[in-house]
Amino acid sequence: MRTHYCATVNEDLIGQEVTVAGWVSSRRDHGGVIFIDIRDKDEVVQLVCDPADSKNAHEIANEVRDQFVLIATGKVRARGEGLENPKLKTGKVEIVVDKLTIENRSQPMPFDLDDDKVNEEIRLKYRYLDLRTKRMYDIFKLRSSAAIAARNSLDEQDFLEVETPVLTKSTPEGARDYLVPSRVFPGEFFALPQSPQLFKQLLMVGGFDRYFQIAKCFRDEDLRADRQPEFTQIDVEMSFCTQDDVMSVAEKLIKDIFEACGKGDKIPETFERISYDEAMEKYGSDKPDLRFDMAMVDVIDIFEKSTNEIFSDIAKDKKRNRIKALKVTNGDNIFSKRQMKGFEDYVRKFGAKGLGYFQMKEDGLKGPLTKFFSEDDLKDIISTCQLEVGDVVFFGAGDKKTVLDYMGRFRLYLAELMDIIDKDEYRFLWVVDFPMFEVEDGKTKALHHPFTMPKLENGKFEFDDLEDLKSIAYDIVLNGTELGGGSIRIHKEDIQEEIFKLLNISEEEAKEKFGFLLDALKFGAPPHGGFALGLDRLIMLLAQTDSIRDVIAFPKTQRSQCLLTQAPSDIDNEQLTELGLRIKRNIK
Ligand code: AMO
Repeated sequence: MRTHYCATVNEDLIGQEVTVAGWVSSRRDHGGVIFIDIRDKDEVVQLVCDPADSKNAHEIANEVRDQFVLIATGKVRARGEGLENPKLKTGKVEIVVDKLTIENRSQPMPFDLDDDKVNEEIRLKYRYLDLRTKRMYDIFKLRSSAAIAARNSLDEQDFLEVETPVLTKSTPEGARDYLVPSRVFPGEFFALPQSPQLFKQLLMVGGFDRYFQIAKCFRDEDLRADRQPEFTQIDVEMSFCTQDDVMSVAEKLIKDIFEACGKGDKIPETFERISYDEAMEKYGSDKPDLRFDMAMVDVIDIFEKSTNEIFSDIAKDKKRNRIKALKVTNGDNIFSKRQMKGFEDYVRKFGAKGLGYFQMKEDGLKGPLTKFFSEDDLKDIISTCQLEVGDVVFFGAGDKKTVLDYMGRFRLYLAELMDIIDKDEYRFLWVVDFPMFEVEDGKTKALHHPFTMPKLENGKFEFDDLEDLKSIAYDIVLNGTELGGGSIRIHKEDIQEEIFKLLNISEEEAKEKFGFLLDALKFGAPPHGGFALGLDRLIMLLAQTDSIRDVIAFPKTQRSQCLLTQAPSDIDNEQLTELGLRIKRNIK
């Protein structure tokens, strides 16, 4: 229906007749001459409807309202002196309309499409209108480029794209499953995959060597700004590979995606690596944001000598406890007394019992804690923390997990507060050597998943503490966000059985849940490993938005609802009966 997209109407076309099609983004009546901004997928061009040029087009333009659908034909001409709009690609020209058709009318908009402060509920209810904005189009164009680049990159690297089932059995990624009742087997359920993990491993047993899929995953978990119940992974698995092989595939993939999205210059020469232990000890996080430094320093040995019993007691158990210092350069001049008090309230929310601090003044360290330390120990603090006049140093003391967690959060909180993060930087980091297990409330859980290969010395399970056992698992972190993760898998049945034992998964349970995988390991499973990148998170970072809902065309709310379709919704009794189900009302 059109000869040109709006964005392509420029000075080269002056004097030519063009036809454009799109929506009215604004209309102004200037004493007889009507100006209409018409917008298609990504740009606006100005239409001029002058009765002197076409009486008919002008009459139609009179009826036009916002978001009506138009098709307009006319000659391109240069805008008058001083009337150019440098904000638009098409800002030097306009179309003098000869023929105008209203293809469709529109009710008044439920919200102003150009207002970026509109309540999100209304935007999600009318998502199709929200998508009509340039901001949204640009995000989805980026997403499309990224997905296409991922496919091409993996194709080039000899990966085969294979689809795995969506109606399947529970996959253990640690979230709750979404379940689908079976009609044929009343009372039985399919689970939607939390990831294609087990199937991709089976494809390796099947000899496909290199697999990928842009896969939908489903997890019923508490939602956050970067989590959705239904999300997309670029999922990869390969055989006969080492951790380094997998990482270089991931790095090439990320590089190709960034290049396709116009950010190739943001890719580092080499991707940095840090061990999980170092990340936790220095940054209090397994996904540290390294766009700013502020690494924590261990001061437990100095605090052990203090006359304050709380500290010296904590310092007695160096395996379970930590005393960490966090320096803020020039903090003494930046923060007010009130702010310093507020910091303590902040860390208390995450389990801190208090927050000590020293100020570095001209004549040495000052602060309520100095009285517990000898002159030499104070000097030791200054040199260990590398303090200069004007600096502040904060201390967290207590059990390891709690201290690392709240000090890590506090580090981020301070960086945001001081606005020291360069928002245009892309800082990649591999976190490696994750522990195999974590123990929470006395229960042992796999930190990655139970199919991850443990790092065994001489092929033997030897450790004092279960939490000391490391795994061949790695995460790729970008600007403090976990972008993806993966591992080398267990391909031997005896190791897999040992891991299930350590996880207190009985033989019967393992057989019932993952029997098909255990069987497959008996038939010559090759060594294999892989990873998955969160596509939605990747696009969030590329588009520099802080809500995952911005990068999913039809997202769910924080309560996992779709406001557009009103899903989830009731189903009628007939369907329930067919499925052999009865609903108990009022359950909470
Ligand atoms: P993992 O569970 O770490 O690994 O997931 C991989 C990546 O998927 C993204 N992601 C999410 N994105 C949006 N919403 C969610 N609810 C959500 N959950 C996860 C993250 C994450 O890094 N099977 C393994 C991969 C492997 O071992 O190969 C897996 O799924 O970016």
